[in-house]
Amino acid sequence: MTIQQKDKQYIWHPFTHQLNAKPNINIVKGEGVYLIDDNGNKYIDAISSWWVNLHGHCNPYISQKVSEQLSTLEHSIFSDFTHQPAVTLAERLLQHLPKNQSKIFYSDNGSTAVEVALKMTLQYWHNKGEQKTIFIAFENAYHGDTFGSMSVGARNVFNNAFENLLFNVAHIPLPTKENIEQIKETLSIWFSNHNIAGFIFEPLIQGAGGMQMYSQELLDELILLCNQNNVITIADEVMTGFGRTGEFFASNYLQNKSDIICLSKGLTGGYMPLGVTSCTQFIYEAYLTEDKTKTFFHGHSYTANPTACSAALASLDLLENKEVQYRIQEINQLHLTFQQKIKSHKRLLDVRVLGTIIAFELKTEEHTHYLNTASQGIAEWFLQKGILLRPLGNIFYMLPPYVITKNELNFIYNCIEEFLD
Ligand SMILES: Cc1ncc(COP(=O)(O)O)c(C=O)c1O
Repeated sequence: MTIQQKDKQYIWHPFTHQLNAKPNINIVKGEGVYLIDDNGNKYIDAISSWWVNLHGHCNPYISQKVSEQLSTLEHSIFSDFTHQPAVTLAERLLQHLPKNQSKIFYSDNGSTAVEVALKMTLQYWHNKGEQKTIFIAFENAYHGDTFGSMSVGARNVFNNAFENLLFNVAHIPLPTKENIEQIKETLSIWFSNHNIAGFIFEPLIQGAGGMQMYSQELLDELILLCNQNNVITIADEVMTGFGRTGEFFASNYLQNKSDIICLSKGLTGGYMPLGVTSCTQFIYEAYLTEDKTKTFFHGHSYTANPTACSAALASLDLLENKEVQYRIQEINQLHLTFQQKIKSHKRLLDVRVLGTIIAFELKTEEHTHYLNTASQGIAEWFLQKGILLRPLGNIFYMLPPYVITKNELNFIYNCIEEFLD
């Protein structure tokens, strides 16, 4: 059997409609911005392999650091024990995170980073003897695939099958100039019931919800309202972290800081699974008591895996480099120029840019939706051109590794124009 036949025989792939699924492309090598298949075809990884890769595939510096770590300490339990990579990473992350962040809790992916944030919030109120159990979230949100993270996500095709089992969440629309007063009024009524535990959001851009961007000023107003009403705010920066939005964290654009921040994806530069949930000192202190039942009983076998932490440290080394910061700004400038050029194209409903992310919403007979049938055609057309884009229905987007060159970006822009024409 070929690899593809064995793949079909033995494996069930994520987010993939299995019936009549086409054979999966067998990737044998990663090199910079390229993924290379067993026939030698090269694909520009324009979506950074589900938004994780920052510095290119098989980056020599990160690979070297990971390999050194692997011959020193590959993994160790993280209760009663600690290790240098986890401690140094926590210290360095806190230097970049907003100043109100004080403690780092490790897990192993984006969904678990969110799950930890939700549990940390609920138990914070429990430990303080207050009955606050309801979360507020945005209608179109995506926070992951575990039950808690699905619950705070949109009710949609991703979780229809589980709808009755998801816990109740108070959903609000994304804020606009038109609806902000109405949203604030609704929140004030909910807050007066005193059972709102927290507000979770993807700051400035909703990723899986279709790269929907919204105003930082309006988000700031909502965070302020939460701060004034003793409601814990959780910024899910799983996608937006580590330069994607142009700033180190999307939270850096905001005046009002969140109490909890979730990180994953780009955290290790796209090398290894790792999750981080950071929190303020006041949240941590609700767990600092003589009462052992108030312990945060949460942990995963691979918590703070040293190899993943060493990849994250190496990725941070690169990210702190001026050259990489310059690349991030240059990608943004090139996106903005292309946006101007293409924005009135008759086949587009919208083109939006935030930092290194550019998204195109295609006009179709069907409405904008994850299962819009335009998706397959877009993906296949670009693959033929050697570009990996994975549309969200009729919305396709680019969010490339920062090592992408101007020429490679121009090649993609030209292909997008050709596709639209
Ligand atoms: C904002 C956000 N939160 C959480 C997640 C879940 O991360 P993971 O896929 O690593 O579980 C994602 C994944 O796309 C995300 O975009």
